[in-house]
Amino acid sequence: MHPSLTNAVAYIQAHSHNFQPTTGIILGTGLGALAREVEIEYEISYADIPNFPVSTVESHAGRLLLGTLNGQKVAVLQGRFHYYEGYTMEQVVLPVRVLKLLGIGQLFVSNAAGGLNPDFQISDLMLLDDHINLLPTNPLIGPNDAALGPRFPDMFAAYDAGLLARAEAAAQALGQAGTTRRGVYAAVPGPMLETPAEYRYLRTIGADAVGMSTVPEVIAARHLGLPVLAVSVITDLCYPGHIKPVIIADILAAAAVAEPRLTALMKAVLAK
Ligand code: HPA
Repeated sequence: MHPSLTNAVAYIQAHSHNFQPTTGIILGTGLGALAREVEIEYEISYADIPNFPVSTVESHAGRLLLGTLNGQKVAVLQGRFHYYEGYTMEQVVLPVRVLKLLGIGQLFVSNAAGGLNPDFQISDLMLLDDHINLLPTNPLIGPNDAALGPRFPDMFAAYDAGLLARAEAAAQALGQAGTTRRGVYAAVPGPMLETPAEYRYLRTIGADAVGMSTVPEVIAARHLGLPVLAVSVITDLCYPGHIKPVIIADILAAAAVAEPRLTALMKAVLAK
């Protein structure tokens, strides 16, 4: 196993009395509220973890939180790494691999995304049931580390059907069924948003939402054999008649509106 992984894991274990999380949670752009609900036992700055990249995006804190949420032991990545920041794919997914080595058995991921499906509204949640990787590379390129996973991991069910069913049941129970959708997420490199022709193209090829993250982490998680639940917050509408210049402040505001619903949903799935 690569020393960048083992060194990071050893540091975290040494600074958390070998805390063993069962669920990993990655918080996306403007979606940090869940962190406030965690009964934090250990808080470790990314900057202190050997080989951990440090987030360059202002809306992302760079902290690993270890604690309990709804009685479950969680590891929360408050701040993620994007390919557009200039990191290698290995760096982008290093935190996922580290959490797996700490002991997680499932991964929850959130992100902010543009809505391509004309049924979607701003601040809706979309449960990912599939994805399209339009990034120029992926984290499994290169020699395979068989200690992490197989050379050719299957992606037939990248998003766990059991977790999806639980999330839909939770949305129903929370009265969120009307604002909780299901769909396909397309990952693009960014950091620029898309042209109207690109949005039409993404819709044509079968995407319901578009964003700049998540897919590398999901590929790494599936390579590691981790079941994944991923949720997009629809922060802007990207279908004909609704496309307008994207203002990052508006994206953050739309994420903030959806944050309590996302937090309640993840907590409910965790409790089951
Ligand atoms: N495109 C790409 N990424 C995004 C968008 C978008 O419209 N909205 C939020 N993240």
